[in-house]
Amino acid sequence: MATLQEMFDVRGKSVIVTGGASGIGRAYAEVMADNGARVCIFDLNPTLLDSVVAELRTNGGDVWGQVVDVADRPRMKEAFDAVAERHGRIDVVFANAGIDAGPGFLSTTGGRIPEGAIDVLDDHHWDRVIEVNLSSVYTTVKHSARHMKETGGGRIIVTSSIAAQINEAIVGTPYMPAKAGVDHFVRQMAMELGMFGILVNCISPGPFMTNIAGGRLKIPADRKAFEEQSLIGRIGDTEDIKGLALYLASPCSSYVTGSQIVIDGGSMNRIK
Ligand SMILES: NC(=O)c1ccc[n+]([C@@H]2O[C@H](COP(=O)([O-])OP(=O)(O)OC[C@H]3O[C@@H](n4cnc5c(N)ncnc54)[C@H](O)[C@@H]3O)[C@@H](O)[C@H]2O)c1
Repeated sequence: MATLQEMFDVRGKSVIVTGGASGIGRAYAEVMADNGARVCIFDLNPTLLDSVVAELRTNGGDVWGQVVDVADRPRMKEAFDAVAERHGRIDVVFANAGIDAGPGFLSTTGGRIPEGAIDVLDDHHWDRVIEVNLSSVYTTVKHSARHMKETGGGRIIVTSSIAAQINEAIVGTPYMPAKAGVDHFVRQMAMELGMFGILVNCISPGPFMTNIAGGRLKIPADRKAFEEQSLIGRIGDTEDIKGLALYLASPCSSYVTGSQIVIDGGSMNRIK
């Protein structure tokens, strides 16, 4: 029988986390590094990236970073190849980088928000949200598959959202189809890549306290609105996501693919 250590073993694994300098991605990087994986963080923000890499190294982690915009396709190819070159292989990839989409068409108190209305939505804003939250997942999976096929398999874990499965008026409109597209794409990729030993799954968070949307969840009214949706009366802390990340990256989840695993304190049960 496998021991606890064997079931959750990620020691020596070559891991990439996109958007790993903050929030949920940072927690992924931390749990992987703390458990002996070799981690490369891709992030757009060089200052945050440097400080997270330094901090995780202080804790003994084998961690480095590359400044990458996940929407920049040639740069993504280069960055994946640099990880394969340095680590010799790529075993686990967290496609996590994402941005918010501005205000929704309603406020938390139910009033209309003029700038969130579809008829005035900025086209460039729509394009950028789709590019970062959906098209970059395509690029990430593409380069993961290219490398993982060479070494006989791997794990791809995409951060989706409960927004893929329910509609929310207080979240910017482009966010919803981007995440719904992510879920469908992940199922398609699980179908295509399973026979190559590559398992593809989504983590679908509800509200978590991170820096997304300029740290919107730190604003008391917004925080309260999201807390009230949770069946356990609070929003997620990034520590809450580490167990699921470790599960999906480790032998423990060897028969799981094409899944959207919701981690939301039960919020989806409350939202109408
Ligand atoms: N926080 C939540 O409530 C919540 C809920 C559901 C889903 N999510 C998803 O979780 C993921 C992580 O978000 P978070 O809440 O941790 O946010 P965050 O803002 O704390 O962290 C996101 C990180 O991604 C980086 N990033 C943004 N755009 C990038 C780009 N183009 N290229 C490379 N890096 C980029 C940022 O610099 C930052 O370090 C996103 O995909 C988000 O949609 C978050």
